[in-house]
Amino acid sequence: MCGIVGYIGDKRAYPILIKGLSRLEYRGYDSAGVALLEPGEDIKVYKRQGKVIDLTEFVNGSSTSGTIGIGHTRWATHGLPNDVNAHPHSSGDGKITLVHNGIIENYAILKKELVNRGRVFKSETDTEVLVHLIEDVKSKSGVSLVEAVRIALNRVHGAYAIVVISSDDPNKIIAAKKSSPLVIGMGEDEYYLASDATPIVEYTKNVVYLEDEQIAIIDRHNGLRIISIGNQEVSPYVQELEMQLEELEKGGYEHFMLKEIYEQPHAIKDSFRGRLNAKEGWVSLGGIKDYEEQIAKSDRIIIIACGTSWHAALVAEYYFEDLARIPVEVEYASEFRYRNPIIRKNDVVIAISQSGETADTLAALKMAKEQGATLIGIVNVVGSTISRVTDAGSYTHAGPEIGVASTKAFTTQLVLLAMMALSLGKRRGTITDEKFSLLLNELEALPMKIEKLLESDSYIKGVSAIYKDARNALYLGRGTSFPIALEGALKLKEISYIHAEGYPAAEMKHGPIALIDENMPVFVIATQGENYVKVVSNIQEVKARKGKLIAIVTKGDTTVREMADHVIEIPMSHEFVVPILATIPFQLISYHIAVMRNCNVDQPRNLAKSVTVE
Ligand code: F6R
Repeated sequence: MCGIVGYIGDKRAYPILIKGLSRLEYRGYDSAGVALLEPGEDIKVYKRQGKVIDLTEFVNGSSTSGTIGIGHTRWATHGLPNDVNAHPHSSGDGKITLVHNGIIENYAILKKELVNRGRVFKSETDTEVLVHLIEDVKSKSGVSLVEAVRIALNRVHGAYAIVVISSDDPNKIIAAKKSSPLVIGMGEDEYYLASDATPIVEYTKNVVYLEDEQIAIIDRHNGLRIISIGNQEVSPYVQELEMQLEELEKGGYEHFMLKEIYEQPHAIKDSFRGRLNAKEGWVSLGGIKDYEEQIAKSDRIIIIACGTSWHAALVAEYYFEDLARIPVEVEYASEFRYRNPIIRKNDVVIAISQSGETADTLAALKMAKEQGATLIGIVNVVGSTISRVTDAGSYTHAGPEIGVASTKAFTTQLVLLAMMALSLGKRRGTITDEKFSLLLNELEALPMKIEKLLESDSYIKGVSAIYKDARNALYLGRGTSFPIALEGALKLKEISYIHAEGYPAAEMKHGPIALIDENMPVFVIATQGENYVKVVSNIQEVKARKGKLIAIVTKGDTTVREMADHVIEIPMSHEFVVPILATIPFQLISYHIAVMRNCNVDQPRNLAKSVTVE
């Protein structure tokens, strides 16, 4: 949460910072700000409540000179999202300015101490403590800015990625991180800094991912140097980015979310590439190959995740237990990390995360590591923190997901977990050759089936229009379709602000049935398979209470069609892949309803794509 950028070089920093902030806006969009520095001049700070566009309107007409700059787009944690609390924050004398992503947990104690020493605070943020602390250390001890940053960070508890500039040191940028991400792009005599690589990719593909408790000192004349906060020299490890610039544009779609929904056939193909071949009868995940034997022999798999990724974990529980016969526990990372769980050496902990930066998932992983578990990551963002702290892992390869609501990242998580379960099942001998081959074929056919399904989009839009004014909605499914009901409900509530609940269809009669009347849309997954007859009974229970029924059915279904108000057909498929296919209509319904309700689909209120605070 919160996006930070920085630039030092020969170019004007302002346009680079603004473009970078727009790319990072998915991380927070309560307020935005920049600070610009030209040697010999004072630092210019512009900040504004609202989005990056509001900041540019505010700045319009003011001086934006400066070849050094830092910028920030905020998701408020401490203090209201107003102009004063917006970053950057400056020291009392205005000479030091910084941006911060994270939370300073001991800010209250530090603030008290600094106030007692006469420092005057302007904002309610935890961040402002940092800049006053750096100023305080510097003026008291007469040390360099770098040393002051280092000493200050040693006093701080919590998470931070910071970028600092000073008019007394006008040819330098100092950056540091702990638990919040920071990437440094290495250009020709110029450097870019950002919370992720998206603002950097169009300038350079050479990047350094700063590690926890490292400080980067970037000097216009002497280049990049990295030290630890314990003052040890570190050699920068330069990596090459794989990301393409076009992946970050809307490509003719009205919203990123719609583009990302439509990208799913392609994204899933990318997820399969080099990993699955149904004709030759193999599946192989290179990233976890060396650990597969250990996973196959583990006593238990614990899957930790948050939000949509947690829904993928719930589907994986069915996959792993059914196909590989390994016991699985699925946990919200935020609960797992705080409840003193029993973790044994022979447990494998799998973390699922689109961003690879979710604070709770990361903290839960660290805890599991301390207790000796093997850590596996299923991550989308290449080079992200979770991909680096795990022992091994596989990337979903969905490409950058910009819309805050997760779509293609979710379906590629599902296909990856399905491949993993098949591979483990094969290794453990818990799946027959016939079933293995059948399911490989089912997976491989998915991109083509999703293409087909997307052809129903205008019909789905028509159905969505009927329910756009609903105040509540219920989503039902059984088996692997239950997590998809949860995901459908989450998607609707997060982007259209309609209250929605997902339930296992049979649980409905233990409470939620009381809510059903002629105003309640009930979305149900009623595809052919083991649970079909049971779901049909649940549908009858809904109809008997006059609920409005929107059913996802297998192509050609007539039974449910007679009972439902609307049916959305998915191609005939094995139950194994139904969760992936059934997700698509729910994504489209949420998208269309949100657009019809004039909601900001790509940047829903109060949300951020990368949840880097607890
Ligand atoms: C919902 C959504 C969130 C994320 C959750 C975890 O559409 O995107 O619920 O799934 O914040 O994020 P990651 O997967 O990045 O760990």
